[in-house]
Amino acid sequence: MKKDQYIMGIETSCDETAVAIVKNGREIVANVVASQIESHKRFGGVVPEIASRHHVEQLTVVLEEAMEKANLHFSDIDAIAVTEGPGLVGALLIGVNSAKALAFAHGIPLIGVHHIAGHIYANRIVTEMKFPLLALVVSGGHTELVYMKEHGHFEVIGETRDDAAGEAYDKVARTLNLPYPGGPHIDRLAQEGEATIDLPRAWLEEGSYDFSFSGLKSAVINTVHNAEQRGENIAPENLAASFQQSVIDVLVKKTALAVKEYKVKQVLLAGGVAANKGLRAALEQEFQQVEGIDLVIPPLSLCTDNAAMIASAGSIFFEKGQRAQLSLNANPGLDITTHNYQQ
Ligand code: KG4
Ligand code: ZN
Repeated sequence: MKKDQYIMGIETSCDETAVAIVKNGREIVANVVASQIESHKRFGGVVPEIASRHHVEQLTVVLEEAMEKANLHFSDIDAIAVTEGPGLVGALLIGVNSAKALAFAHGIPLIGVHHIAGHIYANRIVTEMKFPLLALVVSGGHTELVYMKEHGHFEVIGETRDDAAGEAYDKVARTLNLPYPGGPHIDRLAQEGEATIDLPRAWLEEGSYDFSFSGLKSAVINTVHNAEQRGENIAPENLAASFQQSVIDVLVKKTALAVKEYKVKQVLLAGGVAANKGLRAALEQEFQQVEGIDLVIPPLSLCTDNAAMIASAGSIFFEKGQRAQLSLNANPGLDITTHNYQQ
């Protein structure tokens, strides 16, 4: 009988300190996340220096809790998978150095994981992947359509040319005086309002799978300022609903076009904005009735940053023989295609 595989995941790329242990790539044994949102809120965004300090303070506590929950010893762990990039360099360094220290001390293989590969592999905890597939990645730092013909192979067919979807959400939220991170607040408001305000949708050139959200963001800011100057009131819930509708229309339409062109069997949703109720519902409406296409949407706890997704991706890279050296460094600008080592 094949021995069970246990991968430890470590994630510190932004404002969540997370350690998880995943069995056979798909089963969560422990998944501990310490969020720093409260510390960054009063600054209206993540302060890199504060993030690094919190990671230093939290990592050992989170690690011990994960090991306790899993009821395992380091001798049971087959590999340690750590987010090596992209992200905040100081924050990444805490995870990378901790992972290296643990790997060295316990003689365990080390694996470097791209953060977005992790977000995509969060879906594998929900259901097994079917290739070829398309992942719609929408997070605070990324908006991408990623095509995968097999495990561990990533092709970015479209990406944002300016702001990421989450970034646009957070900036619009700030304009509406909502707390950081603004995405969930806009989402909640949007459910209460109606998309009555005409806002732009950036389709870009025909055939392009790229995105652009900065024009939409500016249009929202202008709408608010113009109304203020005229002494008019705009219902924030209607503005939130209109903004959300513009974002969703473009995301869903481009995904649907790519699904057709690339003839994929599965559509995965990934990243923090995947928690968005409106987006989840729109994708379900678009794809659920389509024969031959499975739509996978992770539970909310696996949409925002966590380490189970890093361990899940790490499990595949481990099986494919990928190993990092102890010289592994944090790489804030890491490209996801560096995982395509088999070519
Ligand atoms: O993936 P993530 O946790 O961190 C990055 O890797 O960037 O994504 C965080 C982003 C933030 O911009 C946050 O506002 C957004 O995800 N977000 C949402 C929702 N929940 C989180 N955006 C829209 N609707 C939501 N419900
Ligand atoms: Zn993320």
